[in-house]
Amino acid sequence: MPLTSFIIDALKSLKDPESGQDIVSAGLVQGLSMTTEGIVSFVLDIKPSFIKEGGILKEEAESLIKALPEVKEVYVALTTQREKKIPSFAKENVPGIAHILVVGSGKGGVGKSTTAVNLAYAMHALGLRIGILDADIYGPSLPRLLGITGQPTSDGKTMNPIQAHGLKAMSMGFLVPEDSPMIWRGPMIQKALQQMLRQVHWGELDVLIIDLPPGTGDICLTLAQSTSLSGALIVSTPQDLALIDARKALGMFKTVDVPVLGCIENMSYFLCPHCEGRSDIFEHGGVRREAEKLGVPLLAEIPLHMKIRESAEQGIPLGANKFSEKEAHLYQELAKEVWALLS
Ligand SMILES: Nc1ncnc2c1ncn2[C@@H]1O[C@H](COP(=O)(O)OP(=O)(O)OP(=O)(O)O)[C@@H](O)[C@H]1O
Ligand SMILES: [Mg+2]
Repeated sequence: MPLTSFIIDALKSLKDPESGQDIVSAGLVQGLSMTTEGIVSFVLDIKPSFIKEGGILKEEAESLIKALPEVKEVYVALTTQREKKIPSFAKENVPGIAHILVVGSGKGGVGKSTTAVNLAYAMHALGLRIGILDADIYGPSLPRLLGITGQPTSDGKTMNPIQAHGLKAMSMGFLVPEDSPMIWRGPMIQKALQQMLRQVHWGELDVLIIDLPPGTGDICLTLAQSTSLSGALIVSTPQDLALIDARKALGMFKTVDVPVLGCIENMSYFLCPHCEGRSDIFEHGGVRREAEKLGVPLLAEIPLHMKIRESAEQGIPLGANKFSEKEAHLYQELAKEVWALLS
């Protein structure tokens, strides 16, 4: 790996808004790395009460490092982990899987599954080994979103995930027809989840993304308490109600010691497929303000876009074919940021 001392020297010119020390000595810079191609990434870890100043600092750090002749690209992720508690009891890892990331929301229909699938594909497009698990036992949507019709194979003990668009995918929907009503009681949910995690031949994965069912129910809690999760992303729409629900989801993850990496505002504004003009149908900036208040970074503002819905209906993630090539960037920045936060 190339030397990064010149980056550290450059970063020392920036001040920590809290202590007034330089940001390196103050311990704000973490996980600094540089590839041979000149791609630099690091985390700026700021106290939740300084999230606003952190946003400015992130931009300053980005332009400062980008201006260095040795640097081609720079990805800085802002986190507020320092005040969070470290899990006090051991949760189990899943062998072979480096990071488990859950995508949740307080209420249903905010675009959680759509976001999870498109993020998974964008991370795969970065060259990462990605798996995706649909933990929504009541309304699985992964088979539809990835256009999968087949069933996973099994040797009687372990199931093989289905390969779709470069992703390894598993869903309760593979085992249970979409229209069959099911009543799952607590212990059955626990068992089904553990089977999905531990009796599936995931192989080596950089990230397993789990699409959670809406709300703060059994499945989220069971998973968060039994499995070591690297982080959670919360999807929210701009409407106030969704924000109230998002706050509940946030509270739930905090209680079970799962670090919330950030919020994603979905259907943030309308992007016209014809003229590419932007319309702020909903009051803009609400999620950002709330996220700031809660000390959670807003990682992306994803527009309401025809191609996002059409791609979902076609069962093809955004950017996986010519149809949505141009719109793929909507999730690519998010993917880079999430990876910087995880690694
Ligand atoms: N950014 C977007 N632009 C356009 N359509 C979107 C967008 N995000 C989601 N949708 C559409 O909104 C609907 C709901 O999305 P999705 O199923 O992903 O939500 P969800 O939060 O997973 O729902 P549930 O709570 O039922 O699991 C889908 O028809 C999807 O195609
Ligand atoms: Mg869903």
